[in-house]
Amino acid sequence: MALRDLTSLLAEPGGVRGKRVFVRADLNVPVKAGVVGDDTRIRASLPTLRRLCDAGARVVLASHLGRPKGRPDPASSLRPVAARVAELLGSPVSFAEDCIGEPAERAVAALADGGVCLLENLRYHAGEEKNDPAFAQALARLADVYVNDAFGTAHRAHASTAGMVSLVPRHAAGDLMHAELAHLRVVLEPRRPLVCFLGGAKVSDKLAVLEALARRADVLAVGGAMAYTFLRSLGEPTGSSLVEADRLEDARRVLAAAKDCGHRVLLPVDHVVAEKLEAGAPTRIVKQIPDGWMGLDIGPETTAQYAAEASRAATIFWNGPMGVFEIDAFAEGTRAVAKAVADSAAVSVVGGGDSLAAINRMGLASKITHLSTGGGASLEYVQGLTLPGVVALEG
Ligand code: 3PG
Ligand code: MG
Repeated sequence: MALRDLTSLLAEPGGVRGKRVFVRADLNVPVKAGVVGDDTRIRASLPTLRRLCDAGARVVLASHLGRPKGRPDPASSLRPVAARVAELLGSPVSFAEDCIGEPAERAVAALADGGVCLLENLRYHAGEEKNDPAFAQALARLADVYVNDAFGTAHRAHASTAGMVSLVPRHAAGDLMHAELAHLRVVLEPRRPLVCFLGGAKVSDKLAVLEALARRADVLAVGGAMAYTFLRSLGEPTGSSLVEADRLEDARRVLAAAKDCGHRVLLPVDHVVAEKLEAGAPTRIVKQIPDGWMGLDIGPETTAQYAAEASRAATIFWNGPMGVFEIDAFAEGTRAVAKAVADSAAVSVVGGGDSLAAINRMGLASKITHLSTGGGASLEYVQGLTLPGVVALEG
């Protein structure tokens, strides 16, 4: 079903002028000692905020940050985010010490047309993640209109993404939500060949998406530590690499699924290995991982193969690092894939924190068709799963 968008919301009789518009955004950005790190998600939320402010809405902005487990935790406060939103919007943003109750209601009542207040972390209340009806009701009291722009949290059925939506009959998807869904759809309906690069530590974390993409993608190229679980499942030596011994059968099932569909799964054919996972540890490049050594990045031959697949692709989806990207000696595989995806003429979609960090650090963002603000959400979407935050907006 087509979601109502901001354009049709703004065109409705009465528009949003003077209305309290509750905007659920994903402002879950890294904050250390009160300082906002990468603010990509904040910037991505600005177009919706600007349009609503320009139309005279009283914007009640809400988000989670981190996982404070249902109680206040100063380390997860959104206060530093309010300052960054204000700086980027170029207008003041007030802050409510609590996302429901008296502090929230006071901040909302003080809003002028075109003004913005940010509510404190939704996850300070256990009701958020439990999708508790009473908590959803308390949030809905703050809203005449509801807009969900939190694509990065759309895979969670929480009070602010799901429960409160039906309580606010006037609702719509924000511009970021729309753009994300439109761009990620190319992975579901790809021009072929579709080449997917999947990295990360654990097969167990990504099992569902591995299986789905093994069926969907013409080529699924695997990197990161999970590649060693695949290699072990084929009886290859993996030394002391991180292997999930209880997932070998799952790994074989992914390989079989691809084979059934006539698709290829590529595994690393060479490796950067070290005896210790440490910056400065001596490294070697090997085809077979010796006892006592662990694979920490894909090797140069693998990198060349993966890059060749990227250059032949019509559509590319990439999520997850190819090696231990935080340590320079094990970052080359991830960098090379980033470069290959950027150089390819394919429609390219990249999600996940490490992949995005690699692209951004290398200044390649403008050469990627779409950088998703959702890690987990984009992985669920490309599997063909419905996202609770999107389903709620359809009602
Ligand atoms: C994310 O960063 O993955 C989203 O903001 C959702 O957060 P969560 O994984 O803690 O639910
Ligand atoms: Mg997550």
